[in-house]
Amino acid sequence: MRFVLPKGRLLKGSLEVLRKAGYDVQKPGKRRLIEGFNGNEVLIARAFDVPVYVEHGVDVGISGSDVVEERKSDVFVPLELPFGKCRLSLAMPRERVVSPEEMDGYRVATKYENITREYFSKLGVEVEILKLSGSVELAPKVGIADAIVDIVETGETLRANGLVEVEKVMDVSAQLLVNRISQKTKFEEINELVFSIKEVIENEL
Ligand code: PRP
Repeated sequence: MRFVLPKGRLLKGSLEVLRKAGYDVQKPGKRRLIEGFNGNEVLIARAFDVPVYVEHGVDVGISGSDVVEERKSDVFVPLELPFGKCRLSLAMPRERVVSPEEMDGYRVATKYENITREYFSKLGVEVEILKLSGSVELAPKVGIADAIVDIVETGETLRANGLVEVEKVMDVSAQLLVNRISQKTKFEEINELVFSIKEVIENEL
């Protein structure tokens, strides 16, 4: 089987859960992006691209639910994983907080364009979305946006940049993703993987 794991905050937990489940995944070396293990292969991709790889043919992946939702990827999600817990929230500069309903005409910086658009359209509020690729906390700081929608885990980054969390947009957790065709053609192997990970999770609770 071919696995795809995300660079960054979820990589450590992803390798750990797979190893505990009996899959001896070896992290590729610094510049290599793909590595073999026990007849399988693991790819390391940008977190935002993991669901895209799985939707289009990589058998299995691990990704945050935020990314799956943002990418609107057509993948099978058999399991929530017990790490990568955080939330996606709306935040604003401490001295200029308003309620989301009062944000008509505001500019919101985010990596999560689709989720943000849906969130405000449900509220019937028209905002301008400024799509950035990271470090979005900088945007209100330098005055190019009025608010952000971004991941909050400890809240440290918000505090350090003079921002406060105004409302939670969604809860986020790591998820196991399976390609819809692999789910049928590699049924036994996928089933064994899901079962083994389930056992790891149950033993740790
Ligand atoms: C995320 C997020 C915040 C930070 C929140 O960034 O965008 O910057 O973590 O965590 P905290 O509440 O514990 O401070 P990440 O490191 O994933 O990289 P990014 O800047 O590319 O989004």
